[in-house]
Amino acid sequence: MAAVTPAERFAKLAALDPDEVITHSFVRDIPISGGKTLALITLDNGKDHTRPNTLGPNTLLRFAEVLDEQAARAKKGEIHGVAVTGKPFIFAAGADLSKVNDIPDYETGKQMAQLGHWSLGKLAELGVPSFVFTNGLALGGGVEVGLNADYRTIDSSAAAFALPEVFLGLIPGWGGAWLLPNLIGIENALEVIISNPLKNNRMLSAQQAFDLGIADAIFPPANFLEDSIKWADAVISGKTKVKRKNEPGKVERLAKWDIAVGIAEKTLASRIGRVAHSPYKALELIKAAKNTDKKTGFAAEDDALADLVAGDQFRASIYAFNLVQKRAKRPAGAPDKALARPVTKVGVIGAGLMARQFALLFVRRLQVPVVITDLDQTRVDEGVAYIHKEIDELLGKGRISGDESNRLKALVSGTTDKSDFADCDWVIEAIFEELEAKQAVFAEVEKFITPEAILATNTSSLSVEQIGAKLKNPERVVGFHFFNPVAVMPLIEVVRTPHTTDEALATAMATAAKLRKNAVITKDTPGFVVNRILAKVLGEAMHAVDTGTPFEVVEESTRPFGLPMTPFELLELVGLKVGAHVLDTHHKAFPDRFFESENLHKLAELGHIFERDAKGKVKGIDKKALDIVKGGTTPMTAQQLQMRIEDGLADEIHRMLEDKVVEAAEDIDLCLILGAGYPFQMGGATPYLDRSGASERAFGDTFHHPPIRGVN
Ligand code: NAI
Repeated sequence: MAAVTPAERFAKLAALDPDEVITHSFVRDIPISGGKTLALITLDNGKDHTRPNTLGPNTLLRFAEVLDEQAARAKKGEIHGVAVTGKPFIFAAGADLSKVNDIPDYETGKQMAQLGHWSLGKLAELGVPSFVFTNGLALGGGVEVGLNADYRTIDSSAAAFALPEVFLGLIPGWGGAWLLPNLIGIENALEVIISNPLKNNRMLSAQQAFDLGIADAIFPPANFLEDSIKWADAVISGKTKVKRKNEPGKVERLAKWDIAVGIAEKTLASRIGRVAHSPYKALELIKAAKNTDKKTGFAAEDDALADLVAGDQFRASIYAFNLVQKRAKRPAGAPDKALARPVTKVGVIGAGLMARQFALLFVRRLQVPVVITDLDQTRVDEGVAYIHKEIDELLGKGRISGDESNRLKALVSGTTDKSDFADCDWVIEAIFEELEAKQAVFAEVEKFITPEAILATNTSSLSVEQIGAKLKNPERVVGFHFFNPVAVMPLIEVVRTPHTTDEALATAMATAAKLRKNAVITKDTPGFVVNRILAKVLGEAMHAVDTGTPFEVVEESTRPFGLPMTPFELLELVGLKVGAHVLDTHHKAFPDRFFESENLHKLAELGHIFERDAKGKVKGIDKKALDIVKGGTTPMTAQQLQMRIEDGLADEIHRMLEDKVVEAAEDIDLCLILGAGYPFQMGGATPYLDRSGASERAFGDTFHHPPIRGVN
């Protein structure tokens, strides 16, 4: 029987995407010293830098062929080294994720891993040294091309360098998980493969990649290719000996490896729980890389990648990734951008927790005068002093220059005189959460400002329409709901009332974009999106406690969601008083579906739920808290409660969509991911609710058609 050719072996995979934009491998010979020749392969998909080189199946097959040709030439003595570089600004992003998402079954997923290993692995089997000149952006599989080669150089201006797989529910499965720890040591590899992706997909600069030992040499962009060729020449001729300071030695393998993995595992479990598969799979592979050979390591990567690609979490992650990358940038229901009015001066009413934080953001991002007011001069002064202190800190960290710091400080002023708001075209309030107070303060400011100036409110639970009800021009009012901490949370819920004009809404959207926040437009209904969902979950959690369910059982019930914290940790974080208020507001609005909790008010008086040690680490539930909630007689099991919460969430989200609070389920998930830290691997909430059967039970259908799930 004739041997199966690679093209035959990977045929199913290669046929998946008939329109694959193939990244070609162009070869040219570069003469180097001693009459030798370096074969230089340039990866180029023929498109400009907005369409990075990707590594689809047909690309990998072709790359392998080209490498085979070079190996044959090397054998004949025609070439003495092979180098790979990219097109301008781009080396290579990895596989085309949208296509990986289309992989129909486990076996095809496995082939994808095997094809990558087989093709890129040829870089180590050429019979002559192989080099990768990372001339620009390198992500995922792009980085792994380099790892499979013998030597690497990097352009100091390369825009992005990362192994983001774990962030997307995958593992670096074309050699990365085995090769990287063996190249740069266990701790560095854990950082690059696991910690960075989980820190909101943090990337490395070229300098960092070099310092970690991922690249052997770094050169400035001006002569990057020439410098890299010269360097390769010196390596080939033996003039340059490459020393790798981070390459793990015996001691590291014997003494450090397992300990580092153990610490990483504990850190992971305490930070994100155990629901997400990909970080733990990566950890397993990195752990095993200590004493397995390359072949075994690569085979383990094949299995892990195939499992993950076929699983639910990867599909949900890709859904979430597309929401954050695409939908967030083109918000649903946004009016024509051209309607937005310029904002040349900002007025901030209130100088408390929220107002002072966003006042700082306005001045930094809009670079226009910001005037801030409060009830008295002392509070105003405190607010301004806070903003100045934060600007000083930015300067101290080198994030802004001395000039910029001076300019920003000069742009901020405090006042107790509302007539100073006269020339503001954007005024935003964050005073106490009281309707009459907010109505009064807007009415007062309206006397001074032009009829077109926008009035925005940061209210988290009041009706935006009612806040504007006493105004002459209520059509200029818009909700602009930030999340705490303002600098960190990427979401703003922009609330449109029945009166809000397209101009006001467009101005709010443009302003959010200038603040570099993602805005989602919501209807003026209680809690908008994020607080309504939180109120549902927290209300159920407190109700369970009130009816006698132990705190620990409640915590266990929400663990499968993979949320960043338990309901009680979240309540403590937002403040128990605020939490009780959120529950009360929602109970008032929807008494049959949302619980209020007398006990939560009592816990708020106590000030905490958990007993903590001196460092703030949770030791357990505080005894006084246990006393407060005792007496419930109808406890639930974790399973019962989990189902109650899931069904309740599915029902509530379904109602929100019927009521057109937002345009689509996608917007709810986007809000939950960006505003409440709901995990990618759950896809926010709706993919999970569809999969768990909650959607069917709650409203006899699913949010997504077909549901977003794996192919296992
Ligand atoms: P805060 O109590 O820290 O600040 C409120 C400030 O407003 C105080 O400095 C107060 O003196 C001032 N103030 C009260 N009446 C005033 C008036 N008539 N004129 C000028 N200043 C006045 O409250 P916080 O937490 O900053 O909340 C403010 C608003 O932001 C509320 O509507 C709240 O619902 C909303 N919000 C709060 C979030 C949070 O996490 N704390 C998150 C998102 C929204």
